[in-house]
Amino acid sequence: MDAIIVAGGAGTRLLPLTANRPKPLLPVAGIPFVVHQLVKLADAGVGRVLLATGYRAEQFEPQLGDGSRFGLELIYVTESQPLGTAGALRHATPQLSARADEPVVILNSDVLSGHDLLGQLERHRVSGADVTLHLVEVADARAFGCVPTNARGHVTAFLEKAPQPVCSQINAGCYVFTRSVLDEIPAGRAVSVERETFPALLAQGRTVVGFVDCSYWLDVGTPAALCQGSADVVRGVAPSPAYARPPAESLVDGTASVAPTATLRGGSTVGPQATVEKGVVLDRSLVAEGAWISADATAIDSIVGPGARIGRGTVLRNAVVGDDAQVGVACELLSGVRISNGAVIEDGAVRFSPGGVLTSQPGEPGDAP
Ligand code: GDD
Ligand code: MG
Repeated sequence: MDAIIVAGGAGTRLLPLTANRPKPLLPVAGIPFVVHQLVKLADAGVGRVLLATGYRAEQFEPQLGDGSRFGLELIYVTESQPLGTAGALRHATPQLSARADEPVVILNSDVLSGHDLLGQLERHRVSGADVTLHLVEVADARAFGCVPTNARGHVTAFLEKAPQPVCSQINAGCYVFTRSVLDEIPAGRAVSVERETFPALLAQGRTVVGFVDCSYWLDVGTPAALCQGSADVVRGVAPSPAYARPPAESLVDGTASVAPTATLRGGSTVGPQATVEKGVVLDRSLVAEGAWISADATAIDSIVGPGARIGRGTVLRNAVVGDDAQVGVACELLSGVRISNGAVIEDGAVRFSPGGVLTSQPGEPGDAP
């Protein structure tokens, strides 16, 4: 069986972490995110995965290889310019081995999901659908595709990022397409599966079926969600067949150095060659490769990027510190603030950004209150 992972987006909601690397390669529980998906696909009987890449495409193959490590064959299909979620699928179709009437699994590259993929495939087969979508319930559907269904479980509308969603049931970003339906997507131009393909299939009266499964599900496409997803895998809350360790309060790479008086909890991770000094508290936070957390600093729901340095006694709460940034002594970085790659934050600085959208540029004072 074939699958396609759409993995070409720029991941702008994760800046500055995605300035130098694509979202699917960011570590979650110490493993490049997409590997969690690849192993899940292999477990469900997928033998070939087409990775539809674009942004920072060249970084995938050196990290993931030919897929044999994950029990499948990996094929890289790269767009020279972004073709959108359906354009990417159409661009990849010449590489599919599935026959016209066979199923192809499609995944967004940022969804951590414990749902029953075999059950979704079975639902697709039994209902003879053109497409079968995994659907979940969320508290606020505005950031997603709102997907109402009728009493038979057939999809009746697809409303992407609706300001006033008609229901709390959303597209979870995992589809089973009958292969011939992928061939119908127009070639050679940008097409959105959410805004064009699904509405067109519904307008044509095609069979689009919902597979509702409310197991663990998370889109890891924001800093807060990335922290949560990683912590949930480490703590055993989120199932991932790629993660073999027993549930724990933290995950420390074997090459990292962590002082015995540091407190690591909430599913925090410390990456390769990172240093965590005495008295540090990490709660549900990610410390990337080569980062340095000085004595008595605290990080809660925060991400410290590769090579970044955090000064003594500094407090991070809902903060993101970019690659190689340097944060001084006794700073407070709070409420969604993001520090750019390479930025230098002076001792005692206080920064916060309730919307989480501002980025302090290197050498600039940032958004001080
Ligand atoms: N190859 C390629 N080319 N991939 C792309 C492109 C492109 O031009 N544009 C986006 N992608 C990929 C992204 O890399 C990501 O894996 C996926 O498409 C979805 O993009 P996101 O940016 O993560 O979309 P979203 O989270 O706002 O919304 C999508 O996911 C929700 C569930 O998490 C939609 O599918 C919603 O309907 C859905 O509810
Ligand atoms: Mg997403």
